[in-house]
Amino acid sequence: MLVSGKELFQAAKQGGYAVGAFNVNNMEIIQAIIEAAEEEKSPVFLQASQGGIKYAGIEYIAGLAKTAAEKATVPVALNLDHGTSFTQVVQCIRHGFSAVMIDGSQHPYEDNIAITQKVIEVAHPCGVSVEAELGKIGGVEDDIKVESADATFTDPKEAAEFVERTKVDALAIAIGTAHGVYKGEPKLDFDRLAEITAATDVPLVLHGASGVGDESIRKAVSLGICKINIDTELRQAFTKAVQEVVHTSPKEFDPRKLLGPAREAMKEVVRYKMRLFGSAGRA
Ligand code: G3H
Ligand code: ZN
Repeated sequence: MLVSGKELFQAAKQGGYAVGAFNVNNMEIIQAIIEAAEEEKSPVFLQASQGGIKYAGIEYIAGLAKTAAEKATVPVALNLDHGTSFTQVVQCIRHGFSAVMIDGSQHPYEDNIAITQKVIEVAHPCGVSVEAELGKIGGVEDDIKVESADATFTDPKEAAEFVERTKVDALAIAIGTAHGVYKGEPKLDFDRLAEITAATDVPLVLHGASGVGDESIRKAVSLGICKINIDTELRQAFTKAVQEVVHTSPKEFDPRKLLGPAREAMKEVVRYKMRLFGSAGRA
């Protein structure tokens, strides 16, 4: 069955590695992630954004993820990614999600605290972990859009107070990453990350990690990042594989001949990330 996100967060914090959190919208993406996790003997977060839930339907996302977790030989959590409404959070908990992110970063600080506290009041008694966001991560992730001019880095002192007042299980921080495709190599503010880790002592989450260089990822993990979110690189692998089939076999019309190679391609991306994040072999 699905495990609570708290279990994965705590083990990663203690073990000094990060668990990958991969966005899912359909069966093949879930299968690719779980196959990779089993081959790498790695814990894993499956996660669905509000856009993904709208696309597939919450019953399908939850049903597929619960089936995957039942069959999997590694610990699997199911996370709501960038939840922005209390109603959406409650709906996910009712459908068996084992982790939720309440992204209150677009609200004023006190309102972010208030909605995070409200979500914790309903999630924790259900054994569901809560991730919040402080600071604004730029870029576009489904229905979450933040112009780069509005992106704001996380303040370590504010993060310490936020964690103290909310008791979140994990905190998504803004240290220079952005959602979507980067135009150049992102420069992460590692000094800020080290300060936030020292000030908060909770598992920290890196969003917008697709396209971040391996050395930056390794350094971020060494400085306190315990969950790393990947969506764009999975989408790119999926699309490239499908385009290759369409190009080489233009007469192919069996969806399995398109989705099968896409599944394989995504699996290889996930396996690589699990080795890079240090979660391989930790299940
Ligand atoms: O929440 C999802 C991730 O932050 C997506 O980031 O676009 O870099 O894959 P990405
Ligand atoms: Zn994100």
